[in-house]
Amino acid sequence: MPKPIAFCHSADLQEGGLAVPFDVLYAGQTCRAFAVRFEGQVHAYLNRCSHIAMEMDYQPDRFFDPDGRWLLCATHGATYAPDTGDCVGGPCRGGLVKITLSEMDGVVHWHTASNLQPLEF
Ligand code: FES
Repeated sequence: MPKPIAFCHSADLQEGGLAVPFDVLYAGQTCRAFAVRFEGQVHAYLNRCSHIAMEMDYQPDRFFDPDGRWLLCATHGATYAPDTGDCVGGPCRGGLVKITLSEMDGVVHWHTASNLQPLEF
């Protein structure tokens, strides 16, 4: 059963602004993930470029280009659509791994999936 996990307040995600990072277990491995707001909606992805499995932010939590239109990978410039994670330019090989989010009463939650689980402490 997918389970919603609260990780930030709605106000933490500003249009085209800094991402909010969170950690997940993806296929049994600890991975960084990040959430952004684009055209009013919240979206989240694994912080893992599809070109080479590296984290993408060029400054901590900064993924958007200066116009707030695309998500960029700092390493070789792969460019992704913020709403779908699809590759739109650069050397990416496919899209980002998307994580389902929901927003309710000013709180943002990510949703578990069979290959996506919370970290156990
Ligand atoms: S690692 Fe992201 S573009 Fe090469």
